Amino acid sequence: MLVVHDVTKIFGQNIAVDHASFVVDRPAMVGIIGRSGAGKSTFLRMMNRLTDATSGEIRVEGRNILALNGTEKRAWQSQCAMIFQQFNLVPRMDVVSNVLHGTLNRRSTLASMFNLFPQADIHKAIDILERLGIAEQAPKRAEALSGGQQQRVAIARALMQDPKIILADEPIASLDPMNAQIVMDTLRRIHEEDGRMVIANLHTLDTARRYCDRVIGMRAGRIVFDGTPEQLTTGVARDIYGADESFSEASTSTSLETLETAAYREAMLTT
Ligand SMILES: Nc1ncnc2c1ncn2[C@@H]1O[C@H](COP(=O)(O)OP(=O)(O)O)[C@@H](O)[C@H]1O
Ligand SMILES: [Mg+2]
Repeated sequence: MLVVHDVTKIFGQNIAVDHASFVVDRPAMVGIIGRSGAGKSTFLRMMNRLTDATSGEIRVEGRNILALNGTEKRAWQSQCAMIFQQFNLVPRMDVVSNVLHGTLNRRSTLASMFNLFPQADIHKAIDILERLGIAEQAPKRAEALSGGQQQRVAIARALMQDPKIILADEPIASLDPMNAQIVMDTLRRIHEEDGRMVIANLHTLDTARRYCDRVIGMRAGRIVFDGTPEQLTTGVARDIYGADESFSEASTSTSLETLETAAYREAMLTT
């Protein structure tokens, strides 16, 4: 389904991504981990063509998406929605309008200028908000919501595009542990229920272990680990993070475990 072949990105003297290759043969939930500067964001930005690769290929269902131009490139960009650490919502605009902005790429400039949305899209937006448990927030300004709610609005906006792949760049790095868990549960659910591939850059080991089927470890632009959460031992993690003997798992933990109860998860998924 996804073949990353020998992808490199060079900024001046600096190799941000260094001959990266990996294959994902089904719509898995993939976590990319590594310390700051390892090349995680650059990789996601190449995937959805926010930045051009220096060399290499990324094949999705056989097509090299790095070679697409014009209309085809824009079509690809709407098939791989991106979610960011800082949510990237329009703060003063209401929640529904923020979600509807996920359809901007397929509406005319004039309709966009006057904020004219088809009824069908408005219904779809509200259905998605309902699914993510935040429909009652729909008329509020985005800035009035908590961080966890704002990130769910960003996920709703991504779903408006009906993407094949959801790319998430540190989606929980600005959230407290409780909201981090709600957002990760939401991504996992979208993956399981819709069969969409999710690729998330994660700054904590425990989150990757807990939510992902597959973990890619990057260090200084290179892929130094590619395996299952079970294979991601402390020794491997130490290698990925380039840490010495003093490396501790706690330093890369979001301590979600303290909130772990089945009842809690259940409640969050049904509200
Ligand atoms: N636009 C850019 N111009 C120059 N260097 C960049 C740019 N974006 C990222 N880099 C460099 O590329 C490397 C990888 O960065 P990044 O992909 O942001 O890593 P990560 O997301 O893992 O923290 C870093 O050394 C960073 O300084
Ligand atoms: Mg980054």
